[in-house]
Amino acid sequence: MSNTPDKYAFGMIGLGTMGRSLLLNMADHGFAVAGHDKDAAKVASLNEEGKDYAVKGFGDAKEFIQSLTTPRAIMMLVPDGKIVDSVIEELTPLLEKGDILIDGGNSHFTDTNRRVEELEAIGLHFFGMGVSGGEEGARRGPSMMPGGDKDAYNVMKPIFEAIAAKVDGAPCVTYIGPGASGHFVKMVHNGIEYAQMQLIAETYEILKKGLKLDNDAIGKIFTKWNEGRLQSFLLDITKDIFAYKAPGTDHLLLDDIKDEAKAKGTGKWTSQVAMDLQAPIPTIDTAVAMRDLSKYKQLRVQASEVYSKDDIKLNVDADAFLTSLEQAFYFNMIISYAQGMHMLAKASEEFKYDLHLGDIAKIWRGGCIIRSLFLNDIFNAYQKDANLPHLLLDGHVEELIKAAVPGARAVSGATVAAGIATPAYASSLSYFDTFRSARMPSNLTQAQRDYFGAHTYELIGKEGVFHTQWTAKS
Ligand code: 6PG
Repeated sequence: MSNTPDKYAFGMIGLGTMGRSLLLNMADHGFAVAGHDKDAAKVASLNEEGKDYAVKGFGDAKEFIQSLTTPRAIMMLVPDGKIVDSVIEELTPLLEKGDILIDGGNSHFTDTNRRVEELEAIGLHFFGMGVSGGEEGARRGPSMMPGGDKDAYNVMKPIFEAIAAKVDGAPCVTYIGPGASGHFVKMVHNGIEYAQMQLIAETYEILKKGLKLDNDAIGKIFTKWNEGRLQSFLLDITKDIFAYKAPGTDHLLLDDIKDEAKAKGTGKWTSQVAMDLQAPIPTIDTAVAMRDLSKYKQLRVQASEVYSKDDIKLNVDADAFLTSLEQAFYFNMIISYAQGMHMLAKASEEFKYDLHLGDIAKIWRGGCIIRSLFLNDIFNAYQKDANLPHLLLDGHVEELIKAAVPGARAVSGATVAAGIATPAYASSLSYFDTFRSARMPSNLTQAQRDYFGAHTYELIGKEGVFHTQWTAKS
């Protein structure tokens, strides 16, 4: 270590790739930082990678705590659930009133709610912070979503603003709101991430099975899209994946990877919570369901032998179809953000988070997994009207949607007819068609509920609830 300070300004518990990368990012910005992990190899890695900075790793928790300036600022980056609680339990006897504890992992927001109360009661400042961007983001500039104790956040603000990704000079971090709002917003971020990954996967399916394009041609389309209005981090990494050969071979590594997707669970949480909030996010729900369906490999193989004998044929003019596909992808991407933003608005109302959706869009423009050019449009929409009830009701978004919907219809129509699975494409379009229905067929649902269960219904232009004996009693 070239620089050994008396005390360190910030401490990290959990020196996996994310924790280590965040610490080194802080060190790059001139902060003296310490880390702790029970795994000696991880401590050694930090000391090795940080040897030219004011960075020190500790295997002993007590020594680590004593090395920090007071009031202490400590972040945990450990797997969510019980491990967070056990780290807190071990740590609290070593801390003093006024110390700041941050959970930077992907914790469920209800756990964060509980921890906010428990730690406040013993005089510790606690906040839950979503951190997005993976290893590279953590090292070079993540997007961060801190919620909870505002005073504690203000103490931390200089460090977080320094290490955050920057877009047009603005740091991709802002105080999100009270309680567990930071982790809530990160959860919805991940739900949108699932939706957009599924949309890209379906696009791959259309190009491969529908247009019969080879990997090289598919990679070129993603590359081209990423140079235009569809530009996003997820498309950017996809184009790289379409250029990466399996080591020592002449084919893509992608072709060797099993078609069974794993998930740590944040997408599922988003869907579960959306159902509780009655905030419909069907594109995200579909993405979660498709990861699950991917796991039934054996059943899918069996079913394919029964139902998929015929070769898929997409009867389209390829050039015109590609133009529609670009429109359809744009349309679906907008719908996935719109659903996520609507869920945030509903949660803000329900949990009194006082979320500023424009600020959230702003800090998602850089550093995070769902960063894209379109987030500028979302940011502008909420700048114009902070209380915009739904993204699709913004005038500019309306123009974009109206111009893209013919492509969305052409693609979904063709893929459904050809039997190519595009559930997130279809779900986004159906969401839109339902959302633009001044009158839905839900009157029939109400009539049925009343018929079989006497659940009553309401009438147009008449106060009260009503019940009908729908058939004459014999
Ligand atoms: C991010 C990511 C990150 C992580 C996901 C992976 O914003 O940096 O969302 O948090 O990669 O949790 O999620 P799954 O394992 O559920 O796909």
